[in-house]
Amino acid sequence: MSVTIEYIARMANVSKATVSRVINNKAQGVGKETRARVQRLIDEYGYKPNLLARGVATSRTKTIGLVIPDITNPFFPALIKAIEHCASEREYTVVLCNTDSSPEKEKQSISTLIANRVDGIILATVLEEQRCIPYDFAKYNIPCVLIDRRTKGFDYSAGVFVDNEYAFYIAAELLIKHGNRRIAFIAGPSNLSTTQERLAGYCSALKQYALHYDPALVVQGNFQYESGYAAVMRLHGHGIPFTAVLASNDVMAIGALKALRDIGRAVPGEVEVVGFDNIQFSEMVDPPLTTLDQPLYELGSKAAEAMLALIEGRRLDDTNIRMEAKLVVRASTRP
Ligand code: RIB
Repeated sequence: MSVTIEYIARMANVSKATVSRVINNKAQGVGKETRARVQRLIDEYGYKPNLLARGVATSRTKTIGLVIPDITNPFFPALIKAIEHCASEREYTVVLCNTDSSPEKEKQSISTLIANRVDGIILATVLEEQRCIPYDFAKYNIPCVLIDRRTKGFDYSAGVFVDNEYAFYIAAELLIKHGNRRIAFIAGPSNLSTTQERLAGYCSALKQYALHYDPALVVQGNFQYESGYAAVMRLHGHGIPFTAVLASNDVMAIGALKALRDIGRAVPGEVEVVGFDNIQFSEMVDPPLTTLDQPLYELGSKAAEAMLALIEGRRLDDTNIRMEAKLVVRASTRP
């Protein structure tokens, strides 16, 4: 149930005009105690002015909020395009919020979208635990569809994910079958479910092939190009031997390719490199990158279809849609 200004006014035993003055910080002529009582109720019930109510014929705004962590990473624009294409076919508008992977910006984005009465929110979260998500979406009767990453303990309406663990098992297995025994793993942000699942896939392949897990070969990255470059430089600088690099996304793998070139190690002759995502640039770099293709259009369209079904009250056959990434072999690994 969404809380209205009438409800707050009735609970505080004041007029709607008084509540409005308190919200807009124009509370002159409102007693201090009254102002505090109204503000306490606003905070307690999470009331947000309905910015889109005026002139809206129905309770729906025909808008879907989309919260993503990094608009500069080519993975996300492709995902956004798929979501927007599917939504606009049904005459919904997508309102995009980019959070720069900031938990605070994510919370602010969710709050603003709720205040603007979006009909639902599709979220690629950077918040690890449910306790971090300050909004009870059910309280506002707003469905939340998670895409790509999940938050522990968060009771979301539906989710669309790739099987990251299996994908990284396959990627590591390819490198092991090529004879690599010391495979460096460049991790994404450690708080993300995608990073944790990818590392698990890497470890299970090592275990399956009875290879020693050396923590010195696991280097922390942040999904950015520079962190992939820095990871290889760190291994090289510390004299840690490796014959392959498995990066948690293509952008870091491309950074690793540049670093290997700068330290004079031939790819794939001396070091094989595998990424993840299959962004547009992965085939353009030299050598073209072996990677795993995330079915971006399917991911985005499935998330949008799930959201539209939730908004329109249609039953969902599956509230946890899992897809598979497919290996794309190019010249950064040996034939
Ligand atoms: O490249 C960005 C990464 O963040 C992608 O692998 C995507 O799965 C998301 O987790």
